[in-house]
Amino acid sequence: MFTELLADRVCLITGSSRGIGLGIAKSLAANGATVVLHGRDKESLQESLASLPEPSRHNFIVADLMTTEGARTLADGFLDLHERLDVLVHSAGVLGPPRTPLADYPEMAWHEVLQVNLTGPFLVTQALLPALREADRPSVIFISSGVGHRGRAGWGGYAVSKFGVEGITQVWADELRQESIRVNAVNPGGTRTEMRAAAYPQEDPLTLPTPEEIAPVFVWLARSDTQITGESLEAQEWIGRDPADER
Ligand SMILES: NC(=O)c1ccc[n+]([C@@H]2O[C@H](COP(=O)([O-])OP(=O)(O)OC[C@H]3O[C@@H](n4cnc5c(N)ncnc54)[C@H](OP(=O)(O)O)[C@@H]3O)[C@@H](O)[C@H]2O)c1
Repeated sequence: MFTELLADRVCLITGSSRGIGLGIAKSLAANGATVVLHGRDKESLQESLASLPEPSRHNFIVADLMTTEGARTLADGFLDLHERLDVLVHSAGVLGPPRTPLADYPEMAWHEVLQVNLTGPFLVTQALLPALREADRPSVIFISSGVGHRGRAGWGGYAVSKFGVEGITQVWADELRQESIRVNAVNPGGTRTEMRAAAYPQEDPLTLPTPEEIAPVFVWLARSDTQITGESLEAQEWIGRDPADER
């Protein structure tokens, strides 16, 4: 279904070469938004761009969030395309070594997971604040996880990074409230992607919702007239709901 609900909204979705990020990007674009995709691989981003409605309206940026320079490349690449950022969705993420107790957790994996899942989004948000300040009631959306609310054995740096995501959401939300920049976190819940398959290799992916099915909450948060900030939402409570009808 195509709408103009998000007409004139400019959106950057990190980690949107595939998975949840791409599902969100497709849903935002289907509601009239202009989107900028992001990932590390140019070819898969070209394919992802071609899968969006009206591909010529959108763009992509190649940048590796493993480094500070990569975060800067992403922010600068966005600012070369647009002066204003209405919606920033942080979907890039890595799982790290699946089911590994902290006692055996490799230090390099710890650094990688914390860098991509937490430090990268922090740096990208910071660098894009001037563009968010140019926007009409902008919305920043971090992607959390169930293990970001309650730690679980074997989820190591990933769980810790998602607790960090919940924390940074609350701090940014409090600091930016006066400027009407809204900042929220969303837990997608188990969703049919490569990351989920790596974490649960025995699971039948067809039992899980697709990235586009969990996207309504992201479309709702992207609207300029949505009010909430500093909250942590569950995407699967929104499956089947029409973001145009919600207040
Ligand atoms: N799927 C689930 O069930 C589930 C549940 C809870 C939370 N989440 C969260 O949802 C978000 C999306 O997960 P997903 O399931 O869609 O994962 P996914 O299918 O593995 O996709 C991950 C995305 O992140 C990008 N990425 C990974 N490392 C990167 C790096 N170093 N620099 C830049 N981009 C990088 C990937 O791009 P490349 O093309 O460069 O690899 C890809 O676009 C993550 O934050 C994840 O923690 C997922």
